[in-house]
Amino acid sequence: MRLVSSRTRKQRLAIGAVAVLGLGGLSVIQALPASAAAGCSVTYRVTNQWTPGFQGDIAVRNVGDAWTSWSLTFSFANGQTVQQGWGGRFSQSGSNVTVANEGWNGNVANGGSLSLGFIGNWNGTNSAPTSFSVNGTVCTGSPVTTNPTTGNPTGNPTTNPTTTPPTTNPTTGPPGTRVDNPYVGRGYVNPEWKAKAESVSGGSRVSNNPTAVWIDRIAAIEGTSGSSSNGPMGVEDHLLAAVQQGANYIQFVIYNLPGRDCAALASNGELGPTEIDRYKTAYIDPIAAYQNDARFRSLRIINIIEIDSLPNLITNVSGRPTETAMCNTMKSNGNYVNGVGYALAKLGAIPNVYNYIDAAHHGWIGWDDNFGPTAELLATAARAQGSNIANVTGFIVNTANYSALSEPYITVTEQNRQSKWIDWNRYNDELSFAQAFRTRLVQAGFSSNIGMIIDTSRNGWGGSARPTGPRTTGTLDEQINGSKIDRRIHKGNWCNQSGAGLGERPRANPGPAGIDAYVWVKPPGESDGSSTLIPNNEGKGFDQMCDPNYAGNARNGNSMSGALSGAPISGAWFAAQFSQLMQNAYPPL
Ligand code: BGC
Repeated sequence: MRLVSSRTRKQRLAIGAVAVLGLGGLSVIQALPASAAAGCSVTYRVTNQWTPGFQGDIAVRNVGDAWTSWSLTFSFANGQTVQQGWGGRFSQSGSNVTVANEGWNGNVANGGSLSLGFIGNWNGTNSAPTSFSVNGTVCTGSPVTTNPTTGNPTGNPTTNPTTTPPTTNPTTGPPGTRVDNPYVGRGYVNPEWKAKAESVSGGSRVSNNPTAVWIDRIAAIEGTSGSSSNGPMGVEDHLLAAVQQGANYIQFVIYNLPGRDCAALASNGELGPTEIDRYKTAYIDPIAAYQNDARFRSLRIINIIEIDSLPNLITNVSGRPTETAMCNTMKSNGNYVNGVGYALAKLGAIPNVYNYIDAAHHGWIGWDDNFGPTAELLATAARAQGSNIANVTGFIVNTANYSALSEPYITVTEQNRQSKWIDWNRYNDELSFAQAFRTRLVQAGFSSNIGMIIDTSRNGWGGSARPTGPRTTGTLDEQINGSKIDRRIHKGNWCNQSGAGLGERPRANPGPAGIDAYVWVKPPGESDGSSTLIPNNEGKGFDQMCDPNYAGNARNGNSMSGALSGAPISGAWFAAQFSQLMQNAYPPL
């Protein structure tokens, strides 16, 4: 028997009766005549279908005696398989599917109903199952009386005057219908990015991958034309297009904190360090209004929350050689913590929203003095402004960065930690870091069900310069430099890195446990920052880390920047970079 996960991670209580009833789960709708016979009705619908997947909804109604536990069974006729389900515990053996109740929804009164759903795979034909049973009784839509001695149905519905009528009680009802991993199924392909990708030769090989939609300024909520990174599509347009595509999930980046990106200039934003009220009312509130629109309930809406913010308050503040004045300001005025808390609370109140907070990358917080304090600060932010940890589905690492997923030819030994490249870091790749940081976040108070996602948009490091085995001769630094996949000069380099390639294509559950997905949050081909000063009206500064001739600062070990030349401002399309990313893709295209 193949077990299919159906953990419901967000044990959220109802936001209101309407939300609970609308969302399904166990909802008591109305009292039917009381009965003394088992009975059920089932409505099965395929709500989305693509190749090779589909989404199925199963509405089950108890038209007979109350259930204290239930088991729904049915068979697929065309070899379909359930990949992941919700509302009950799905398992499958051959063509036979069983859905058993969760701990919280075993009791279903007469007249009560259940909303179950699943993502499945199909091939060729996808016909609906023709028969459903609950606790062994075939669902015919009316109660079936059982002969107490033989157990066979006698056929006559009966009523039982002693059965207690059901009551409506949303607060003790089921949690929302959030799924364990929102990345299962089909991701929204942003048509604006797709068109840019296809404008470059060979781009159609990757242009159907889901990438995130960055809401990087207030104007982007309604859509902008003429700005460097966004097109005319606003949040509502993207949500409508996602529904039309039959997508299961869509990804947005929430990226507009006051005093944004305090340790770099290339992605500075429009809001000054004190403009927290504007952030709330002119930015988060209108985004939340669109995301909460009933037209988009069928989508899983994933928000990547404020990259390059909280970790800066640990690593680039007073007492560190890497401090910046703006990071000190943002630490002391509390507006990063409060902004993140507000965003989590407001967006997390929407039943089909999933929030992932940015958790930097191993080459930023993988050192002992950064690791634990960052986890604790993330927990503080998740509890600020009326938020709580239940608003957090998980964390993203390596957003818009270049750190390798794994370094197959280097082991993090005490000796290797002394190399310039590793420099005493505990980690040397994102997979090991993401797993360890997940454990530390749970210690800091986050749910043990949080999932990590890894931005693999530009961390492939393939092409001819990729080593094919460890280098075992020379000094320690020569050995490490000759063995590493990540070809950067220094782990602190982040702008338009020369030699980078597309990484793993986006996919859910890549393994090991605890990693929800590989994602492309930074849309490949969009610049990290201009290589020379380019005046603009978007708040984007010129950061020397994007100048190929810059010899560095304390944050990159005073190394060369490793940036490509000829880059436009951050977010703008950089065709030459996209070509190189395809050329150096790993896995190769
Ligand atoms: C920029 C944004 C852009 C994003 C994605 C960021 O560095 O500041 O404007 O939308 O990258 O390319």
